[in-house]
Amino acid sequence: MRITTLGHAGLHIETAHGSILCDPWVNPAFFASWFPFPDNRYLDWHALGQVDYLFVSHLHSDHFDPRHLASYVSRDATVLLPDYPTDELQSSLQQIGFKNFIRFADNRPRMIGGLSVMISSLVAPTDGAVGDAAISIDDGVARILNQNDAKITDFDPIHRYGPYDAHFVQFTGANWWPWVYDLPDPAKRTFGAAKRKNGLDRARRFAQTVGARYIVPSAGPACFLDDELFHYNDLDDCESNTFPDQTVLLEHLAQHGLTGVFNVPGTVIEVGPDRFDVVQPGPEAVIRRPFDDKRGYLRNYGISRRAEILEERASWGCPDLDLLAELKSWFEPLLAKADYIAAGVGGPVLLVSGEERMVVDFTTLEVRRLADEKCRYTFTIDRRLLETLVARREPDWVNSIFLSLRFSATRIGQYNEYVYAFFSCLSAERIEYANTWYSRQAADDERIQLGEWTIPRRCPHRNADLQQLGEVLGDTLTCQMHGWRFDLRTGRCLTSPKFSLDVERVADPARTEYVT
Ligand code: FES
Repeated sequence: MRITTLGHAGLHIETAHGSILCDPWVNPAFFASWFPFPDNRYLDWHALGQVDYLFVSHLHSDHFDPRHLASYVSRDATVLLPDYPTDELQSSLQQIGFKNFIRFADNRPRMIGGLSVMISSLVAPTDGAVGDAAISIDDGVARILNQNDAKITDFDPIHRYGPYDAHFVQFTGANWWPWVYDLPDPAKRTFGAAKRKNGLDRARRFAQTVGARYIVPSAGPACFLDDELFHYNDLDDCESNTFPDQTVLLEHLAQHGLTGVFNVPGTVIEVGPDRFDVVQPGPEAVIRRPFDDKRGYLRNYGISRRAEILEERASWGCPDLDLLAELKSWFEPLLAKADYIAAGVGGPVLLVSGEERMVVDFTTLEVRRLADEKCRYTFTIDRRLLETLVARREPDWVNSIFLSLRFSATRIGQYNEYVYAFFSCLSAERIEYANTWYSRQAADDERIQLGEWTIPRRCPHRNADLQQLGEVLGDTLTCQMHGWRFDLRTGRCLTSPKFSLDVERVADPARTEYVT
């Protein structure tokens, strides 16, 4: 098996039984906030696009790049499709002209030609864009897991499919916490350091759990080339920066006795039973320059992409829109279908845009002007960007404005999962699915012992396997999937108080039930 890394989560996989292109991404994403790092425009995309199979893991714009797919990828390629609850990924690819699809049942290996393929699909409303997926591939010579952004919660099927020769794993931050929040700088640095550490620990735990011979950092970080956002790049290996690059992960893995593989766009990896050969696309000094002189490299890279940023900025805005009326007619039918999510939010969320002060009220299920009231969350969004979201009827604000980091926020109290679930499901199909998913999320009765505590095996947030990803320090349990913390003495979630754990101290026969 021959694998060429294409930058970010992009892979080109050649086997005796056909070739597969995974997640090619080149064009700016999220209102031109994100760009691939390092630059991957110089690859021979015409040649790379002539493949037998295409795998797009999910609809986030750093994985699904419709402009690129339309320009370079053969429409005769058969799409390997995860089993998602909505048809958005398939219909988006059909609009580009892809016509051949094979849908994979979750975690069921299947032969296509001489290739064995298994797709592990995550379907929580806030996984990817209502769906995120990992792909396992075995050509009879080598077996790999391309996990990219998929935060796998059940490793049993992965273990049954393995052992793996190579594991492509995501490790770096992508979202906006804590940077857009109205917090003092020292608090941001503290939260940022915790988030950075959690991302590295999680990737390492994934790698240890999968146990592949080699670990290949993948799927990030993107870089920020707009001057307004440039400071988000991890230019000086800052311990509170949430966007560390692969050199940080490789060092972290080495400290734990694990072998990681440095790669850039164009790195070729030949994998076989007795071989794992890595050929870099240039001299060491050249391929390492984006990492060794990141500031200088990104400045020059930014200059080369400035026209795209300006073009994107010029496209924002729709000044004739009546924002309140539009949001009312769009959101209120969705709120009416979202009783469970609305109860989870439990109050008003304020949208501030220019002079507008608009409230999405999750209690009365209406959109209205701000009254004399306190709002649990406030999102402040540039009016041109909000107009753009509304004019496009953007169904996923997480996968657009929030990931762009082009907004600011305040909140009273802890993180509320349901707020983001609502703003990522702004279509009838999505909100119906999400509301049902939350209302049906049954507790798993299986219990495990960690230290002196027995707890449910599944994290109440998104079902991560706490046997693999739970870490107990003193009286605190941290789920390393997303870093949520639980007070083991009370079962209360310290990250999002609407969640809790049923905890029992082993030495103490008296069991206490805690209800969300
Ligand atoms: S699954 Fe998200 S913190 Fe546990």
